[in-house]
Amino acid sequence: MTANTYPIDAIRSHFPALALSDNGVDRLYFDNPAGTQVPERVLERTREAMVECNANLGGFFTTTLKSEELYVAGHEAMADMLNASSAREVAFGANMTTLTLHVSRSIARDLKPGDEIIVTRMDHDANIAPWLLIAEDTGATIKWLDFDTGTYQFADDAIDPLLSDRTRLVALGYASNCTGTINDVKAMAAKARATGALTYVDAVQYAPHGPIDVQDLGCDFLACSPYKFFGPHQGVLWGREEVLERLHPYKVRPASDDPGEKFETGTPSFEAIAGTLGAVEYFEEIGAAYADPGATKYAPLRDRTARIHAALDYLGAYELDITRRLTAGLQALPGVTIRGITNANLFHMRVPTVSITVEGHHPKRLAEALAKRNIFVWDGHNYAVEPVRRLGLLDKGGVLRIGPAHYNTSDEIDRFLTALDELITQR
Ligand SMILES: Cc1ncc(COP(=O)(O)O)c(C=O)c1O
Repeated sequence: MTANTYPIDAIRSHFPALALSDNGVDRLYFDNPAGTQVPERVLERTREAMVECNANLGGFFTTTLKSEELYVAGHEAMADMLNASSAREVAFGANMTTLTLHVSRSIARDLKPGDEIIVTRMDHDANIAPWLLIAEDTGATIKWLDFDTGTYQFADDAIDPLLSDRTRLVALGYASNCTGTINDVKAMAAKARATGALTYVDAVQYAPHGPIDVQDLGCDFLACSPYKFFGPHQGVLWGREEVLERLHPYKVRPASDDPGEKFETGTPSFEAIAGTLGAVEYFEEIGAAYADPGATKYAPLRDRTARIHAALDYLGAYELDITRRLTAGLQALPGVTIRGITNANLFHMRVPTVSITVEGHHPKRLAEALAKRNIFVWDGHNYAVEPVRRLGLLDKGGVLRIGPAHYNTSDEIDRFLTALDELITQR
């Protein structure tokens, strides 16, 4: 599939926000790594939750019963998206950070001084700080997995010398929100498991761009955020059922003791769970309409999982097409350095999140000037404090981050490149 055959107009028509302009200038959303726009299906499901069944769970009347239906359907949808064994393994929460801080407290109960936790220099702080905090509380030791600042990847065997029979947890990012690198989580989780350690995967930045199969990955926890994959502001935690069963939850006594639900504190955001269901249904719809869920590689999966995964593969291929156009255009501009993978043969190892620096231009000033042209990008460290520090950019304003998604067009890539070129050459 190429950008020429991709049904971009049909795809864009699902997203009302894409039609908006300000003072006659179209909005160009390249801020997707920090949050995406939502399709109509998400709005319909959210409205349904707030109008037709706005009630808490556990009663006998119409709204509570219907609310429960949506709540269950939301868990089942996420279980299918992640290919979990069952919906019992899914917990919803405020966001990935809150869920991670929350479950880390339960994991900490099993740690003692001398135990070891591996964190990486490539991760977002949401998959570092919680583990630093529990290490502080328990006396566990932190070990850092570093990446190669030339390849923007972990060397294949980099984790080996860090693993020992005292390793209790390995915290890994599936894809970096700074460099865009996709990591070989499956291989690293297998190594962690061989030493008896748990693996906690931050899939926030990967989930909008590719299919996730937690059973195939062999990890123990995986967290993501629906607002990054075209849903509402919310977080999702998946945990392997037997691991969740073992953990002692910080919860109020009358709340559920079910493996996933016991990590959902208080009344959930039913409207956000319904909206997340809508986002998963959007993927299903794309999978059924444009992709090939019957392809052999999806055959072992449940039908809905096959549709969702086929959709994510299909959308991801288009994203990489326009990202190639973006990186090629950036490389042609004077003074631009891409802080991530640029080798076309390694594009399957990156998501479309592209961070750059421009010689002589502060990232904040560029983001500000682009905003004046209604082009939305982020600058700074974007909470990827460790990678930005490792790249020597922490005291230089970090990076300018451009994040296309599957609803962006080649014309938008060109509009951005022209604008950046003007800003660089007109200074
Ligand atoms: C890779 C990564 N991990 C974690 C987070 C934090 O997610 P949340 O806002 O759901 O807490 C983000 C948000 O930008 C992210 O990009």
